[in-house]
Amino acid sequence: MTSPRPPGPDWVNLDRPSPARVYDYLLGGGHNFPVDREAANHMLRVLPGLDAVAGWNRAFLRRAVLFMIDQGITQFLDLGSGIPTVGNVHEIAQRADPGCRVVYVDRDEVAVAHTEMVVADDENTAILRADIRTPHVVLRSPQVGRLLDLRRPVGLLMVAVMHFVSDEADPGGVIAAYLDALPPGSVLALSHLTADHRPTEVALATKALSNTCDQVHPRSYDQVSALFTGLELVDPGVVGVPFWRPELTTGADGVGHDDMYAGVARKV
Ligand SMILES: C[S@@+](CC[C@H](N)C(=O)[O-])C[C@H]1O[C@@H](n2cnc3c(N)ncnc32)[C@H](O)[C@@H]1O
Repeated sequence: MTSPRPPGPDWVNLDRPSPARVYDYLLGGGHNFPVDREAANHMLRVLPGLDAVAGWNRAFLRRAVLFMIDQGITQFLDLGSGIPTVGNVHEIAQRADPGCRVVYVDRDEVAVAHTEMVVADDENTAILRADIRTPHVVLRSPQVGRLLDLRRPVGLLMVAVMHFVSDEADPGGVIAAYLDALPPGSVLALSHLTADHRPTEVALATKALSNTCDQVHPRSYDQVSALFTGLELVDPGVVGVPFWRPELTTGADGVGHDDMYAGVARKV
């Protein structure tokens, strides 16, 4: 006998895990379903500490946004923005400067629907449902046209998303297409899963998502560093996520602190 379906919108696929909902669960969020929790718990068993990696990644996102604000950036394009959780980009940015504008982009139904609700009363923030591998669609969207002035520097966020872009889809070309549309002074923040340090464990964990449209493609230190080609990396360069400009302490005393690389770079 199959168990009854949990309540959820008809248009959400409840038969397969979604990376957005798995990540939400790893962060302690409530926008996930049994199929996601099962996949996440399996991933945690084979890759212990993955929940800590998700938390460090989220903290990196916050520090990267604050860095961008320090650089005078007031507009953000957040690609693969995920399901809203604690510390969303528009909240971090608008706390520092209420005039900040943010366009979120994701292709996951739950991420888009929940973001629509969260930003409904915020005229400076919008969500676009799109595939980030089609930069021309994103850059020519009404949301970008209305909120972002592409003649002024933009904070481009690609946090924990480029490992969903295969080599065939040309991740370097995708990044270049966005940056080509942005002026000097724009800043890219990127984090990316790697199998450099725990190859067997990472392979077992990413297999849990292999029957979804979001296959995971971990990359080596050199491959992740190459994604910043043509940009000026700011200190400390490409490092494990907790080590990118930590605040008081990295908190990275568990395993997994090098499973996700992070870097921030400026277009000159
Ligand atoms: C691990 S979450 C990261 C969320 C957020 N950036 C963060 O770091 O906290 C990855 C997100 O990227 C989205 N995603 C993956 N591939 C995508 C694609 N090709 N186009 C749009 N969104 C994508 C997923 O739906 C998911 O919400």
